[in-house]
Amino acid sequence: MRKTNKKIIKILSDIYTAEVGAVGVYMDQHTKCADKGYHKFAEMLKNDAVNEMKHAEGLMERILFLDGEVAYLKHMVPVTEQTEISDMVKMNIDIEIDAIDRLNKSISDCFSEGDNGSRLLLEDILKDEERHLDGLQIINDHIKRFGDQYIVTHLI
Ligand SMILES: [Fe+2]
Ligand SMILES: [Fe+2]
Repeated sequence: MRKTNKKIIKILSDIYTAEVGAVGVYMDQHTKCADKGYHKFAEMLKNDAVNEMKHAEGLMERILFLDGEVAYLKHMVPVTEQTEISDMVKMNIDIEIDAIDRLNKSISDCFSEGDNGSRLLLEDILKDEERHLDGLQIINDHIKRFGDQYIVTHLI
């Protein structure tokens, strides 16, 4: 491989940090929901957590492949603890929007730096985050429209 591009390593590390943060948030939420018996929503969150972990893994593999170093990094943690499903959905929408913005910017940066291998990895991740966001926005709309009835029949 050619000389390590520090800018690319920084881009990939920042996304890695956010992905591991998302794993933590979704895992925290899915175990709490499962404990309360909110099984359907817990299962969805668990799938998302696993998906984010696979993103983090792919990013770390790419960093190492590019001879970058994976340092112990500070991971994003939720500022407030959520207990209601509706609050979790809103928080996760914000997380996904942030991820999509970060990825779109980083994809452009990888392109400018001439690293299309990294760009392609980020494009795959981006499509997953768009799917996550879409699913969450649909749930949020249904909660607004149908309230607790929707939560009880579809998320528990
Ligand atoms: Fe992700
Ligand atoms: Fe996501």
